[in-house]
Amino acid sequence: MIVLGIETSCDDTAAAILDSEAGVLANVVSSQDLIHQRFGGIVPELASRRHLESITPIVNESLSHAGLTLADLDLVAVTRGPGLIGSLLVGFSYTKSLSYTLGIPFVGVDHMAGHLLSVFLEPHTPSFPYIALIVSGGTTSLFKVEDHLSFSLLGSTRDDAAGEAFDKIARYLQLGYPGGPVVSSRAEEGDVSAINLPRAWLEEGSLDFSFSGLKTAAINHCYRLIQRDKMTDQQLNDTCASFQQAVIDVVVEKTITAARTHTISSVILGGGVSANSSLRQQMAERCHAEGFELYLPALQNCTDNGAMIAFAGLQQFLAGERGAHDDDVYSRSPLGR
Ligand code: KG4
Repeated sequence: MIVLGIETSCDDTAAAILDSEAGVLANVVSSQDLIHQRFGGIVPELASRRHLESITPIVNESLSHAGLTLADLDLVAVTRGPGLIGSLLVGFSYTKSLSYTLGIPFVGVDHMAGHLLSVFLEPHTPSFPYIALIVSGGTTSLFKVEDHLSFSLLGSTRDDAAGEAFDKIARYLQLGYPGGPVVSSRAEEGDVSAINLPRAWLEEGSLDFSFSGLKTAAINHCYRLIQRDKMTDQQLNDTCASFQQAVIDVVVEKTITAARTHTISSVILGGGVSANSSLRQQMAERCHAEGFELYLPALQNCTDNGAMIAFAGLQQFLAGERGAHDDDVYSRSPLGR
């Protein structure tokens, strides 16, 4: 089967072609970072307008990379939610039109399910069940994944997502958008123990997260430095390193606790923040020390992409699911934040 996967939940227009036998034939992403950079965050109206301009060229590009045409498609899988409604509607309406005109089925896919299954785009895959930490700009959640279609939420953020906290710190420090990559490269030059920032462990045994206190503490620290004098480059790097380490300490520890509590020995990472090299390294070290096996998707499969949506959609289709032309998109995931 040839599946076209479409993802427009936030600020990336993505399309991929998945062959159920041969794997991913094309995976194309058009980033809107340059558009949103000067606002320090995503402007929803601009995001949906850009999706409208990009969707047809991006789908055509994915087909041409795969050496196929629309006539070769058997199924379209599209992100149905969660995300920005205006952005989601572009991909969803486009998909319904394709499905109608080509006379082929479509399925609506939860964006989170895409991240939870993105590890299956890799050559080395885990067996079920596994623990998944999904950590991105909109989500920080732990799931138990029982099979291709069953996911139980074990914990999630009660306020900011980790990536959102990275982005907000970067915005305060005028480091640009998205904040994660620049904060993490600054962190490489800084001292992780320079500033004593809080870690929100929450109630004993809780697998929930909270990053708003950490974000405020880091911003207050910078504010005090700036009030006294100009912040030096080293102080900026130290702030980034101490902040990043506080995030990593909590997400790594809670992931290990989830795996131990549920006696599951396979762990996967997903979402944009899992591109963070210190997080990848520290998670790998802790999993190794605990005897757990860590599966890390390649960087292009960690961030938003159409291939993970195509894969998740194919599983739903094989289980008998079909999209209906009066289906609607949603902003909040039924799977949890
Ligand atoms: O999954 P993703 O591509 O999409 C959304 O959630 O929209 O994740 C984007 C998030 C942003 O918050 C970005 O700052 C963060 O992932 N991010 C990182 C890194 N690369 C991207 N955070 C920390 N370290 C990184 N290297």
